[in-house]
Amino acid sequence: MAICFHSPSKPTCISPSSNHYRPNLHARSFRCNFSKTLTADPQPVFTSVKSFAPATVANLGPGFDFLGAAVDGIGDFVSLRVDPDVRPGEISIVDIDGVGNSAKKLSKNPLWNCAGIAAISVMKMLGVRSVGLSLSLEKGLPLGSGLGSSAASAAAAAVAVNEIFGRKLGVDDLVLAGLDSEAKVSGYHADNVAPALMGGFVLIRSYDPLELIPLTFPSDKELFFVLVNPEFEAPTKKMRAALPSEIGMSDHVWNCSQAAALVASILQGDLRGLGKALSSDRIVEPRRAPLIPGMEGVKKAALEAGAFGCTISGAGPTAVAITDDEEKGREIGERMVEAFLEEGKLKAVAMVKQLDRVGARLMSSNLR
Ligand code: HSE
Repeated sequence: MAICFHSPSKPTCISPSSNHYRPNLHARSFRCNFSKTLTADPQPVFTSVKSFAPATVANLGPGFDFLGAAVDGIGDFVSLRVDPDVRPGEISIVDIDGVGNSAKKLSKNPLWNCAGIAAISVMKMLGVRSVGLSLSLEKGLPLGSGLGSSAASAAAAAVAVNEIFGRKLGVDDLVLAGLDSEAKVSGYHADNVAPALMGGFVLIRSYDPLELIPLTFPSDKELFFVLVNPEFEAPTKKMRAALPSEIGMSDHVWNCSQAAALVASILQGDLRGLGKALSSDRIVEPRRAPLIPGMEGVKKAALEAGAFGCTISGAGPTAVAITDDEEKGREIGERMVEAFLEEGKLKAVAMVKQLDRVGARLMSSNLR
């Protein structure tokens, strides 16, 4: 994919302290997309901010790498503050906390942390030179779950940096910052980070230049995601490596028509149509499902229990089904949990969640 991408793996200026990063002040703009690198050295308008970014379901079946949706009520938090103990222009990750083993598994080196990479990208775009920042990450999402955990951290961090300096960048720039992070940890895909930042359903029409199309699901319609997360790791890099580099024409025609039907169903609020399209992927799901023990049985169980559709959420291992009724969603979730245990010998937990229509947001701020 031809993308102009400034690799965070080649930082242009790292401070002697490994947990600090200082943007290269002399670097040329790294954007070939429409985003900008501001030359000004902005001053913070808040001393501290706290942001949140929601979980996301990427791919939605036939929309591999170009469709995603945000999920209400679960996600990651970032607290960011102006810190005189951090050298001007640098960022330090001071704390990582949250579900599972996040704190142990995630690096506090900002160059190797999703939140850190996105924060650095936003600092670069803004041209921050005279203020040092410290960042705390609170993980509400398990790592490698297929719920957009890395994207939620990146989105929350990008929003926090943008907000502390007075919201000078637009959401497209923040998506590009999130893409810097995703590229380093899993692959160059925006189908988690775009909906995490924008909320709702998002279509990534193009990566170069980045072109995002929000898809509005009618506000008077009910939509519930049943998310069933088994105790199993499916690293996105590995799950991407399982995919073919070429596909046949008939699969291409089938998947394109299903993705188009999915978009139409979202806009019409047609849950049956949405579910049918969600279940229809003939390219990615057939390669990945066999790598997740029990997944094929879980999908069958969800459909038999009355779900409108079911597929792998993102790269997995979480399975996602949809329905229009919360109670029904709980029953579907129970059947899916049972199927993971019976057919995959995996323990799993189910959640029933609505669409997040807002995306990453400022939770609190303290004025200077
Ligand atoms: N589109 C990406 C993939 C999403 O399926 O690899 C990963 O969450």
